[in-house]
Amino acid sequence: MKKVTNFFLLNWLDFVVVLLCFFLIELPRLPNLLILVNGCIVSLVLWFVIVKPQISEKPFSLHRSYSILFYFIILVGVFLSRILVRQFGSYSSPFFIPITLIALLYSKGVAVAASVYLAVVFSTAFGFNSLGYTLMLTTCLITAVASSKIEKRMQVARSALIVAIFSVFFYLLHVKMQGIKPDYLQIMIAFATPFISSVICIGVIPFIEYASMIYSNIDLIELGNLNNPLLKTLSLRAPGTYYHSSMVANLAEAAAQRIGANAVLARTASYFHDVGKAKRPYFYTENIFQENPHDELSPKLSHLVIQDHVKSGLEMAKRNRLPLLVQDVIPQHHGTRVQKYFYHKSKELGEDLSENEFRYPGPKPQFKEAGIIMLADAVEAAARSLKSPSAGRVQTMVEEIISGIYNERELDESGLNLKELEAIAEEFTKVLLNMFKSRIEYPKEEIKKVISLVQNSDNQPYKKSDKQNTSQESDRQSSKE
Ligand SMILES: [Fe+2]
Ligand SMILES: [Fe+2]
Repeated sequence: MKKVTNFFLLNWLDFVVVLLCFFLIELPRLPNLLILVNGCIVSLVLWFVIVKPQISEKPFSLHRSYSILFYFIILVGVFLSRILVRQFGSYSSPFFIPITLIALLYSKGVAVAASVYLAVVFSTAFGFNSLGYTLMLTTCLITAVASSKIEKRMQVARSALIVAIFSVFFYLLHVKMQGIKPDYLQIMIAFATPFISSVICIGVIPFIEYASMIYSNIDLIELGNLNNPLLKTLSLRAPGTYYHSSMVANLAEAAAQRIGANAVLARTASYFHDVGKAKRPYFYTENIFQENPHDELSPKLSHLVIQDHVKSGLEMAKRNRLPLLVQDVIPQHHGTRVQKYFYHKSKELGEDLSENEFRYPGPKPQFKEAGIIMLADAVEAAARSLKSPSAGRVQTMVEEIISGIYNERELDESGLNLKELEAIAEEFTKVLLNMFKSRIEYPKEEIKKVISLVQNSDNQPYKKSDKQNTSQESDRQSSKE
């Protein structure tokens, strides 16, 4: 009994949402009590078996706003359906709106779970038979799949077109199997509803994002634009940090793509991870060109000044209403790591300070993209100081940094596993080798091979002319640049 009470107390909001959803549509019709009770039980079971596991994971567990917005979208979707279906029939149900908004703001998995739940609620409320239910479920699932991975506004319209075609097809199939004559008005409604819904989605999404600070990939891409006032300030006040952030973004995006994490979030969050350095840019290595201000400071004070970029960055991010997950990356990209340079400097000066005095406050990375950015940040900083980068040296450096951070247990809460870390190391090495192509030191045997190949080709008259043409072309290209 205690377990049941605890379960109810922990999930009371879910019970309220499910019952509200069901009663929003069903109660005014005053149906048979048995159908009503059965419907409620089925809805609750479905919610706790299919939807709840999806909305208990990160980022839902990190910010309450994720659950609140999710409940709000479901309730508004159900309420809109109730109004429209009564006026224009079952095929006017704007299911496209809640499912597309969930696919854009959350993930494909959450959108698929919501589709299954909404299809059951709608089908029960509209009195669909098993055929109607199957068609409704298929249309909702198609909407979820078509709307996930959207990165441009126009792709919402493309998704609406796919759903509109399927809706008309399913309507025709439905009437044919029931032996009824098709109603042309219903065909038009089935075709137009997803398009009207897509316009509503595109229109409301900026307001939802501003209010909830939960962003779709469409607007995350726009945030990473240099027109963003925070990034503009960073590029003008701390050009070294801006360059570093761009390099981190390239590394993090490639790694996130490789392991199936959100590459758009990884890129945008990387741009803002060190935004707090715009406050006192001249204290950070990448912006120091003349005197080092740390020469005048004690190691502990230097640590405090450097650590301040996390606090200032978070304040700037909150003031500018940056996405919640981008805000999270700002403290998490240093986790609870020790600033070893100043710790060792303090030791050399004979100060009796513990490692913890030089530790960042954390928290440790809480999701995969934050973990990737922590790794990319450390790798980029080390790669910059690599004097003569060879393919082997770059690979060793990347592997050492990743295994070092892993052994410090900084990635314990990020959800990254060893296989993914190996893939990230490979991807970082690939990106760095591309970045440093011109600086790569090739092994001596490779150089000898290249020289002998060039000499051989020089001995062949027709190849020599080819070579001359190529060099003339490259001269032309470089003079253009
Ligand atoms: Fe930083
Ligand atoms: Fe950084």
